[in-house]
Amino acid sequence: MTRIGIIGSGYWGPNLIRNFQNLPESQVAAVCDLSSRRLNHARELLPDTFLTEDVNELLNPELIDAAVISTPTKTHYALAKQALERGLHTFVEKPLATSANQGQELIDLAEKNGVILFVGHLFLYNAAVNKLKDLVSTGELGNLCYISSSRLNLGPIRQDVNALWDLAPHDIYIILELISETPVGVNCQGLAYLNSKVHDVCSLTLHFEHRRMATIHVSWLNPNKTRLMTVVGEKKMAIYDDMEPLEKIKIYDKRIEAPRYTDSFGEFQFSFRYGDTSCPWLEQSEPLKLECQHFLDSVVSGEQPKTDGKNGLDVIKVLSAASTSLHEQGGYVQV
Ligand SMILES: NC(=O)c1ccc[n+]([C@@H]2O[C@H](COP(=O)([O-])OP(=O)(O)OC[C@H]3O[C@@H](n4cnc5c(N)ncnc54)[C@H](O)[C@@H]3O)[C@@H](O)[C@H]2O)c1
Repeated sequence: MTRIGIIGSGYWGPNLIRNFQNLPESQVAAVCDLSSRRLNHARELLPDTFLTEDVNELLNPELIDAAVISTPTKTHYALAKQALERGLHTFVEKPLATSANQGQELIDLAEKNGVILFVGHLFLYNAAVNKLKDLVSTGELGNLCYISSSRLNLGPIRQDVNALWDLAPHDIYIILELISETPVGVNCQGLAYLNSKVHDVCSLTLHFEHRRMATIHVSWLNPNKTRLMTVVGEKKMAIYDDMEPLEKIKIYDKRIEAPRYTDSFGEFQFSFRYGDTSCPWLEQSEPLKLECQHFLDSVVSGEQPKTDGKNGLDVIKVLSAASTSLHEQGGYVQV
């Protein structure tokens, strides 16, 4: 039985509490939040669990085996560092930290202390993303041309980080998983409207080798909730709409074909192929439950998880380059 300590019980923390409490291999042994109001809410979920406003009381190896950090982004590094220094397995919500140096330091600390460092890259436990990965890796879509992604909603509005650091991590780690390469460079533009220091909307382009690119549009200042990713291959195209309850992935047998021959340069150069549209069956399971289970399995086996510190660091490197570009009005920045 792995004893879990949850740090941060705001909007997302209670979902982690529910999953770790319900899995047979774990038990939530303690919850910490700076807000007494949020601790009162945690008390309703777990009437017999140790609750505290002092993180030092929770980060006690006699009380817990693993710390799960679900606090605002700017606090991730310091809290994860404390947990790892006390020899605790550590699960950190995305993004792992706010600089590559911090991310590397956490990876080194986990290695030194022989514990698991895990990052909450939730969508890598989502059946639709796994299906997209299959479509790319088996060659069903053909060579990848580009990916475009939109993650939009009205709120939640953060003050500690901008929409790029809060929302784009999801799109970045999904795209890195699909393309299996690190981008060579990025451009990023955005608008800070509600608070002149915090961008509410950002538009990011990732450039990869072999003439591939990905675009990401994120905003918390948008009338409706959109979670949409389009993957365009040379043979087929796919759309992943996470707002669809069941038919999340549609595969379009559509492409542009060059005619076999033309008599002169000025003649029509391309033709369109319109084939069937299909919708693959996806297993219905809660991605957060699978994510928590994978963390527990890694703790028991000692094997590196799918979403380890390195996976978290890869995302931070892209975000850091994008931040530099954002503050240089969208100029190209190497990753
Ligand atoms: N994986 C996902 O899909 C997903 C979804 C939402 C949020 N998140 C992540 O979860 C984290 C929390 O997001 P949220 O929406 O729940 O934020 P939130 O602001 O609603 O909750 C954060 C909580 O942490 C508490 N807190 C702050 N500093 C603390 C500290 N030093 N010690 C103890 N408690 C502290 C606050 O009082 C608050 O209750 C963020 O990192 C966010 O990126 C992930």
